[in-house]
Amino acid sequence: MTPRHVPTSPFSDQKPGTSGLRKKVPVFQQPHYVENFVQSIFDTIPDREGSTLVVGGDGRFLNREVVQKTLKLAAANGFARVLVGKGGLLSTPAASCVIRKHGAIGGIVLSASHNPGGPDGDFGIKFNTANGGPAPESITAAIHARTRTLTEYRIAEAPDLDLDTVGEARIDGMVVAIIDPVADYAALMRELVDFDAIARLFASGFRMRFDAMSAVTGPYAVAILEQALGAPAGTVVNGTPEEDFGGHHPDPNPVHAHDLYALMLSADAPDFGAASDGDGDRNMIVAPGLFVTPSDSLAILAAHAHRAPGYAAGLAGIARSMPTSRAADRVAASLGIPAYETPTGWKFFGTLLDAGLITLCGEESAGTGSNHVREKDGLWAVLLWLNVLAATGKRADAVVREHWATFGRDYYTRHDYEEIESESANRLMDGLRGQIESLPGRRIGDLTVSAADDFRYVDPVDGSVTAQQGIRISFAEDARVVYRLSGTGTAGATLRVYIERYENAPDRLDLAPDSVLAPVIRAAREIADIAGMTGRSEPSVIT
Ligand code: G6P
Ligand code: ZN
Repeated sequence: MTPRHVPTSPFSDQKPGTSGLRKKVPVFQQPHYVENFVQSIFDTIPDREGSTLVVGGDGRFLNREVVQKTLKLAAANGFARVLVGKGGLLSTPAASCVIRKHGAIGGIVLSASHNPGGPDGDFGIKFNTANGGPAPESITAAIHARTRTLTEYRIAEAPDLDLDTVGEARIDGMVVAIIDPVADYAALMRELVDFDAIARLFASGFRMRFDAMSAVTGPYAVAILEQALGAPAGTVVNGTPEEDFGGHHPDPNPVHAHDLYALMLSADAPDFGAASDGDGDRNMIVAPGLFVTPSDSLAILAAHAHRAPGYAAGLAGIARSMPTSRAADRVAASLGIPAYETPTGWKFFGTLLDAGLITLCGEESAGTGSNHVREKDGLWAVLLWLNVLAATGKRADAVVREHWATFGRDYYTRHDYEEIESESANRLMDGLRGQIESLPGRRIGDLTVSAADDFRYVDPVDGSVTAQQGIRISFAEDARVVYRLSGTGTAGATLRVYIERYENAPDRLDLAPDSVLAPVIRAAREIADIAGMTGRSEPSVIT
């Protein structure tokens, strides 16, 4: 059948952010809104004729509807074949894995990550390129430019497909393959981590809890942890994906994964606790009695990665986003490998991974990953941790404390001021920029500013420059504060303040983070005049 050419007019708000186009559900429900954006993506793929596309999402409200629309748009835009996860599901790392494994030209990933779902929640559409990673800035800018000039989209006139049966169907000339969303991903995990050693660990009575937060990792975690590795049934909790994530905020941190956190800090704690977010790319790791910060988790995994078969040959290098603590740099130095500091956003790791300059990378925002895919990968991080525990025979809390004893400890916290007025947020950042020259040498409480700048990144592979990525202030006392505005919020602006302090004296490794960081927090508030500028005396979320 000839596709329908539907006249449309541009929307002015289709600018992709840190991680694709993210908006409230009702925005995506406007007539033509989804079609316009997907057509704009397709228009930036010049070689799409006859190619393979991957489509899937985290199962949130609108997921199925947008999968159906995307398939019909794809059929009218010349794709030969589309791979779709059964039920329209693919975790973000699994989508990356499937794109790479099947030589797809790219993928449409439907997710608003850890943001709440449901009819009043958030939705998102992201484009990943052939390497499996989020589209780089040059492509998202082209997509945005296209959304502003679009006058029509092309869509096949076809009934909705049955997404719940594995097998092949057709829309006009295009083949739609409904695939098991877990199979390719599970096979890849088996190559990277020692399944036999982990299975022996579970058989010996080791117990863990994995909280899938009613989001997409449920089926992956049940298949891998319980079915393949023999963890007892019930190890995975909240394992059924729901359109509104059971009304919860599917963000794996001590605030939103509170039940798991409380269990791990109680006397009944199992040996290990972990959680993942809405689309399966983030992770939270909790040892018995001890929350492991994402920055520490990256450093610890880097120090022990050689114990897993996929990394036995060692690491080429490590990268972390700029606001992530410097713990990973210390490991890189001890291994004699390079450490890279990139802007926030997983896409910035892409060139380093593709060029083979790094093997592991991670972010303070609960993202850890490696060169196996081009997204951060929550369940992979959990499996690598399990591999480390199986190989060392040590408890997770002992692994963390030994790490601090060897490398010192980067005490770390992040303060978020959510939904502040965009104008005040911008004024605050401008105020900081204006102080960069005068700050060095300034004394605030017991701290002395040693350096200040606005982070500017020059990609070592392609030379691209990304400026204004956050204000960094270093103190002579081995402390650091970073300020930046979130690129993923959907209402107003979110100011993130990242606070850290390094200690390596043996008697200063097990202190309460609050007490170590208090002077740095005070300095952070004073320098930016957070209360005066935002009207907030306390952050809305502390992680
Ligand atoms: C998403 C991206 C991450 C990024 C995070 C925080 O999860 O995939 O790479 O670190 O958002 O972004 P934000 O701009 O909200 O701090
Ligand atoms: Zn996510």
